[in-house]
Amino acid sequence: MERYRVDFEKEQIVYEAEEGMTLLEAEIAAGLVPDAPCGGTGKCGKCRVTADGRKVLACQTRIDRDMTVDTDFVEEDKVQILIDGCERHVSLDLEELPPDVERPLVAGVDLGSTSIVGYLMDGLDGQRLAVKSMLNPQRQYGADVVMRSNYAMENGMDILSGCVRMAIYVMLKEMAAECGRNAEDIVRIVMVGNSCMHHLFLEIPVDSLVLAPYTPKVKDAVAVRALDLRMMVHPRAMVYWLPNIGGFVGADTVGCILASGLEKKEKMTLMVDIGTNGEIVLGNKDGMVACSTAAGPAFEGAKITCGMRGSQGAIDHVYLEDGQIRYHVIGDEAPVGICGSGLLDAAACLLDAGLVDDSGRMEQTYYFTPNVYICQKDIRELQLAKAAIAAGIRILLDHQGVAMEDVGELLLAGAFGNYLNPVSACRIGLLPRELSDRIVPVGNAAGTGAQIAALNSGEYIRSSELARETEFVELAHLAEFQDVYVEEMEFPE
Ligand code: FES
Repeated sequence: MERYRVDFEKEQIVYEAEEGMTLLEAEIAAGLVPDAPCGGTGKCGKCRVTADGRKVLACQTRIDRDMTVDTDFVEEDKVQILIDGCERHVSLDLEELPPDVERPLVAGVDLGSTSIVGYLMDGLDGQRLAVKSMLNPQRQYGADVVMRSNYAMENGMDILSGCVRMAIYVMLKEMAAECGRNAEDIVRIVMVGNSCMHHLFLEIPVDSLVLAPYTPKVKDAVAVRALDLRMMVHPRAMVYWLPNIGGFVGADTVGCILASGLEKKEKMTLMVDIGTNGEIVLGNKDGMVACSTAAGPAFEGAKITCGMRGSQGAIDHVYLEDGQIRYHVIGDEAPVGICGSGLLDAAACLLDAGLVDDSGRMEQTYYFTPNVYICQKDIRELQLAKAAIAAGIRILLDHQGVAMEDVGELLLAGAFGNYLNPVSACRIGLLPRELSDRIVPVGNAAGTGAQIAALNSGEYIRSSELARETEFVELAHLAEFQDVYVEEMEFPE
């Protein structure tokens, strides 16, 4: 078979590709980490590169000659990744530490579908020494967990597990080096993530998550030797995963509960983590219920014509001023796209300006610039995403017989919840308008939960009780879900 040279100019990498390989495959094989939100099916248009001066989709372009390629990847350090979460003080309380490490280190890792955040702490005084974040390298196999699961089922799990284990190990090693320490000093790692991230990391088959019965194969907390995961930290170090609750309500939700102390609250509390899957927990000291709902990747910019992540050049905030629609761009530069928070604001403004009606019908495409715009298809995608979350909230409240006025607080966990404007979220009906004065962003609560369990063995053990005590509600099994979902598609008047 013929081989051709593919010259990735910006990265200064020349890759010898086999004839017929796609440019996307060549990028991955060359060690680049391209975005492929639709998993390379040609549907999202987000893998665009310039090949020999022509704009093409990398996933749809087969290599049949020597080529020069200009990628246009967003640089990772320009992407906003949420690091901080709510504060909860726990005492340092660890089971026996290896005697051969003078100053042991412990780590908490939040493995999100989009981004990974690692926290390194001193195992003797609990002080946080370093924090690092990065985009999840699995994004080259699809934006959402379903696409990645399909990839794993077709091509084996080791590619997805291997790339993320290696990324986390390198991240931990770099954090240790930043503090003048060695990766071998890390004696304990606690991880959180949704059930799919959990299974893909641990190489547990994901078929039961994406096909009926849509349940995790493993729900209990898991402890694995780090060396067995090829993480060259302390030879006796263990990697602990917080437990899963059910469906896509995973260890990250348990981390959020641990961090927020939801199980101890007097008032009825709603906690919502909005991502490609929305996880919703409702409860207080008398009990908790949880569900997950598939919002899809619209809030992360995928499936939106000019959508992009919250990185430099993204319109992240849209507002009405003197009857005019105005916007803010991350980095205060010319806009190149619109991120989730901007999309929400834009929809709210378009509704207020009468350019979109309650059914979501748009008179005409709205242009921020000739190249950055919102069209009818984008509004429809937003409606699907927001209806999924809104329906999940409504059904959980109904299921528990809790009236909106009885909810004391709405805790918004996760990156999107932190950046979105709650007024816009209520205006478009993503969050209940009745709770607009009770919305409290709690940042990366899942990451806080991982740190708590890394510092305190008792909290790690308690996480299993929390998961067991949280009732999982499978929305797909409820007859009313479809009707409520369709109703929530409308924008509130
Ligand atoms: S169009 Fe190529 S990855 Fe989606």
